[in-house]
Amino acid sequence: MKRGDFGADFRWGAATSAFQIEGATREDGRGPSIWDDFGRARRRGWLGLGGKSGQASADVACDHYHRYREDVELLAALHVDAYRFSIAWPRLLPEGTGRVNRDGVDFYHRLLDSLAARGITPFVTLYHWDLPLALERRGGWTNREVAQWFAEFAGLCAREYGDKVRHWILLNEGLTFTGLGHFFGTHAPRRRRLRNFLPALHHCLLAQAEAGRRIKERRPEALVGTAVAFAATHPLADRERDRAAVRRVDALGRAFVDPLVGRGYPVEELPLLGQIERRVARPGDQQRIRFPLDFLGINHYFRLTVRHSSFVPYLRAAPVTRADAERTANGWEVHPPGIGEVLRGFGRYAEIPGLYVTENGAAYDDVLGADARVEDRDRASYLQRYLAEVLAARRAGVAVRGYFVWSLLDNYEWDRGYEPRFGLVHVDRATQRRTLKASGCWYRDFLAQP
Ligand code: FCB
Repeated sequence: MKRGDFGADFRWGAATSAFQIEGATREDGRGPSIWDDFGRARRRGWLGLGGKSGQASADVACDHYHRYREDVELLAALHVDAYRFSIAWPRLLPEGTGRVNRDGVDFYHRLLDSLAARGITPFVTLYHWDLPLALERRGGWTNREVAQWFAEFAGLCAREYGDKVRHWILLNEGLTFTGLGHFFGTHAPRRRRLRNFLPALHHCLLAQAEAGRRIKERRPEALVGTAVAFAATHPLADRERDRAAVRRVDALGRAFVDPLVGRGYPVEELPLLGQIERRVARPGDQQRIRFPLDFLGINHYFRLTVRHSSFVPYLRAAPVTRADAERTANGWEVHPPGIGEVLRGFGRYAEIPGLYVTENGAAYDDVLGADARVEDRDRASYLQRYLAEVLAARRAGVAVRGYFVWSLLDNYEWDRGYEPRFGLVHVDRATQRRTLKASGCWYRDFLAQP
């Protein structure tokens, strides 16, 4: 497998997100986000979670806010031609709407200029989970007004950065931040139950389309997409009950895509979604949610095996741990053909002109040796095997246009703190020293060849 096999126009990149790497959470006028609040509550023990991850704070993270130049040099050394990062909403609009914080705006100008100087194309995510806390206090994603708030933020970004950025990713993983943050309460903003989840889901779709339109109004040349998490979901046994469980889980994932492309919620496969139509939506919403995507980003990590379960309400599906499965350090099942399966699935949507793998990668228990090397052969092998499947999908005619490794750096992995390391680059927590891992060396060498 060579870089050239993917075609000359295929984009190669690495991905990060603001809250996970920037640090400087109280600097230069940044306002607090729901994740700052989550971290604080956890450190005070309110969430009843102990251990190292429970103590982790993202106040420093990878100190990227101060070290962005060094990090852009790392990207250049990897020979990537694209970099996916996110803009922190609370840095630009500390109260979420209204007053613009110039210092925050300027940071991303500096970052974008450094990338441009290295010929690296930015792919900018607008929302990677760091909602301004001030907006959460007004209901956050459960308040329908969030569509206007988010559009305001998107419009500001398009106005400020639109001559430096062409590729925009509206939301990162709607299902993850609504599911974990608004149903299970294990992520910020720690809301629970359907009465939070269903409005958050619907409003996130409204906000996405509203923001997409705002960008296109300001910058007609912009290419606008969004990123969804999609696992390959398989039935435990080859029997109809389990296959039906898979269809319901898939429908939940597609709840973030189908309405967006104009197909409406997949209510037939997952009747629960009918509650949105009955209780949350307003007349005309189906049209409002629709937005012509220029591309869809797929974040893909693992295979999920499910079986029918009457104990799980609505979904009636339960995850099953396969005893024989290969797993990463955080327990995710390695199953490379899964990425091809997911890409082929979205490749069948006539409404979606192209796909990017906006995240793919793995956590392993890396060890920084005395020789200052990290021999993460497992990660290199994971990436190679997944990429081979991406290539096969492309050869089969799926319009996959690029691939981003999650992540450039070991970083703050949300509720898990710094323990899972996903980086191509090892980050020493005490010294902030960056060390390219063996997987990073492999990626670099792979990208250096034609
Ligand atoms: C994805 C998130 C990303 C990171 C990876 C491991 O769900 O988008 O921020 O946490 O998982």
